[in-house]
Amino acid sequence: MAKIKKAYFCQSCGTQHPQWLGQCKSCGEWNTLVEEVLSRGDEKVGRPKTKDRARTKSNNLNQINFTEEHRFTSGDRELDRVLGGGIVPGSLVLLGGEPGIGKSTLMLQVALNTSRKVLYISGEESEKQLKMRADRIGIKNQNIFVYTETLTRNIFDQVEEVQPDLIIIDSIQTLQTDVIDASPGSISQIRETTSEWLRFAKESGVPVFLIGHITKDGHLAGPKVLEHMVDVVLQFEGDSNYVYRLLRAHKNRFGSTQELGIYEMNQGGLREVANPSEILISKNRESLSGTSIGVLTEGLRPMLIEIQALVSTAVYGTPQRSSTGFDARRLNMLLAVLEKRCGFRLGAKDVFLNITGGLKIEDPAIDLAVVTAILSSSEDIAVSGNICFAAEIGLTGEIRPAQRIAQRISEAEKLGFDEIYISQYAKIKPGDFSIKVNMVSKIEEMVSLIFG
Ligand code: TYD
Ligand code: MG
Repeated sequence: MAKIKKAYFCQSCGTQHPQWLGQCKSCGEWNTLVEEVLSRGDEKVGRPKTKDRARTKSNNLNQINFTEEHRFTSGDRELDRVLGGGIVPGSLVLLGGEPGIGKSTLMLQVALNTSRKVLYISGEESEKQLKMRADRIGIKNQNIFVYTETLTRNIFDQVEEVQPDLIIIDSIQTLQTDVIDASPGSISQIRETTSEWLRFAKESGVPVFLIGHITKDGHLAGPKVLEHMVDVVLQFEGDSNYVYRLLRAHKNRFGSTQELGIYEMNQGGLREVANPSEILISKNRESLSGTSIGVLTEGLRPMLIEIQALVSTAVYGTPQRSSTGFDARRLNMLLAVLEKRCGFRLGAKDVFLNITGGLKIEDPAIDLAVVTAILSSSEDIAVSGNICFAAEIGLTGEIRPAQRIAQRISEAEKLGFDEIYISQYAKIKPGDFSIKVNMVSKIEEMVSLIFG
C-alpha cells in the first residue's frame, strides 16, 4: 500500500503541525488540532502534474453539452419534491435530524419503496433490527441489501460486489476509514469518509444518502465543511412528542430550498401528508374564545393552522409570557404594539400562546391570527371558526401584506372558509375569489369588524 502522508491542522488559524499538540503553536488556541490526509501515495492532492494538465483545460460555457440529469424517483413523493423532482444520479445527500426523529425509518422506507437495487449500510443497528423495522413498515422489496459495517474499505468492496443503484449510509458518524487513526465520529474521520463517498458518487454516478446526527443546538455534528461538500442538505425535524415531521432542504444544488415535505409517524412507519391543513385545524370547528386560524406558507405550500392563546390576570408580580411554536420575542413585540398603539391593557396579564401540531412557525404572516387569538381570549369573545387571517403586523400597528397572498386565499377558499382578513395593501382584487376577502390596514379596524 502506498504511503499516506498526514498532518495536523489547526481549525482556528490553519497552521500545519507534524504531530498532535494540545495547543496550537501559532495562534495559541487549545484543542483545535485535527488530523488530515495530505496525500495517499501517488495520488497527490493539489495541483495536477504536467502530463495530467492536458486533460484539465477550461471550456467555453456555451460549448458545454448538457442534457438534464436523468432523475429517478425515490418512491416517496414528499422526498422527491424536496429534492427538486427526484434523485439525481451521482448526488451526495446528507440527511440530518435529532435522534429518534425518524431518519432511519425514512431512509429504510425509501429503500423499500424504490424499484432500484439498494445497499443499506448500517453502523448503528443490527440486521435483525433492520428486518424488524422493515416488517413494521410492511413493504416488500427483493432488491434491498443490508450490510452492517463501519470500515469504508470493506463497504467499498461490498459495493463492488452488489453493484447497487442507490446507497444509504446510517450514519456518517459511525464510519471509519483506515487512512487516519482518529476515532469514528471525530471531525477528521467524518471529513475523510465523506470525501471518500463524494469521490465515489461522482465517479460512479451512484447516488449516496448519508444520515448525519445533529448536536443539541441543532447543527449537524461534524465539521461545517461537511455541508459544503455534499450536494444536498436535508433536515428532518419535528417534536418527537407529536406525530408530525417536516423535511426541508437547507441546501440543494439541484433545486429550490423552498419545498417542504410533511409526514406523520405512525405504527407502520412514516405516512405522507398530502393535505396538511386538514390535520392542523380542529375537526369540529366550534367557536371558542382564544383560538383563531392563520394561513401560513411553509416553503411554497400554503396551509392553515390553529393558534391558541390564553390571557389571564397575572397571579405573581411579573406577568408570564410563554409561547410554544412561535418566537417569544415576536410575541412580546405584538403585545407591545397592542398595548401602545391599540390601548389594550395587557401589561399586567399572563399571556400563553400555542401553535397546534408541535410546529414551529417563522412566517410573519401569522401575526394577525396571533393578535386575534390574544384579543379573543382577553375580551372573551369567540372568533367564528369560518374566518381566517393572513397578514404581518408592523411596529406602528399597521397591517402589512403577506407574501404569496393569492395562494393563501385560494387555500382558505378550498378548505371552505367563509372569510379571510388580509392587508389593505395586498395587490389582489377581492372580486377574483369566491371567499369574502376583508382588507384592513389597522388592528383597530379588524377589532371593530370582528369583536364589534
Ligand atoms: P428512527 O428512524 O430510529 O430515528 P433516527 O434514525 O432518526 O434516530 O425512529 C425512531 C422512532 O420512530 C422510534 O421512537 C419509534 C418510531 N417509529 C414509529 O412510531 N413507527 C414505526 O413504524 C417506526 C419504524 C418507528
Ligand atoms: Mg437511526
